Amino acid sequence: MKKKLLSMALVATMAFSMFAACSSSEKKEDDNTLVMATNATFPPYEYVEGSEIVGIDVEIANAIADKLGMELQIENVEFDSIIAGVASDKYDMGMSGMTVTEERKQSINFSDTYATAKQVIIVPEGSAIQSVDDLSENTMIGVQQGTTGALYAADDYGETAVTNFKSGTDAVQALVAGKVDCVIIDNEPAKAYVESNSGLKILDTEYVTEEYAICIAKGNDELLEKVNAALKELKADGTVDSIVNKYITAE
Ligand code: ARG
Repeated sequence: MKKKLLSMALVATMAFSMFAACSSSEKKEDDNTLVMATNATFPPYEYVEGSEIVGIDVEIANAIADKLGMELQIENVEFDSIIAGVASDKYDMGMSGMTVTEERKQSINFSDTYATAKQVIIVPEGSAIQSVDDLSENTMIGVQQGTTGALYAADDYGETAVTNFKSGTDAVQALVAGKVDCVIIDNEPAKAYVESNSGLKILDTEYVTEEYAICIAKGNDELLEKVNAALKELKADGTVDSIVNKYITAE
């Protein structure tokens, strides 16, 4: 009896590990699923609408997957876990309004760029902070952890000036609640946050200009080449522009 139970357990374990093996191979490119990691707290690039993840990155990724004859699968994760997850092949690619930086290039490769962004500063209306020159090590700066905004703020004003939040949304909530003096974040999400929260504004002075790209594991050159080829076509035939224009109205 005992023996039988044991062998049943063994069979169950084997079945489970076979199942686990199958489901992990689902993450592999060759079975037609393109797994994209993102952090959907970043309108208009990726955000949750109802029960769906939508936005510019999602639509461009879908267009890329179509071109590659693959099925897009989106994993909504913490922003600061995307690079490690891509580097370890947990995800095929990361697409999350991600800025190309030299430091990130140490652990992953970037595709060609598909958007330009600026870091901007959000303050409450009537704030004493009127330009970037008013920021100092005594300013309480809110940021999303692991972002370039977080990095620059810590570099320029010191770690102690910076409060890290899990998402840009959380940082903005803290600003609304008066727990921080300003938020440093990318311009388009900044506009979206200011629109959805009253009493906030974006300072005219920009902070840093950067470019977004898709990150892919070093060594996965096959996918990198395919993604770049697809991106090139989607830029040339106006698909990228029309997706962007759907979400961003030119000033
Ligand atoms: N562009 C910034 C960076 O790469 C912020 C990106 C945040 N993206 C997001 N989906 N939350 O660090």
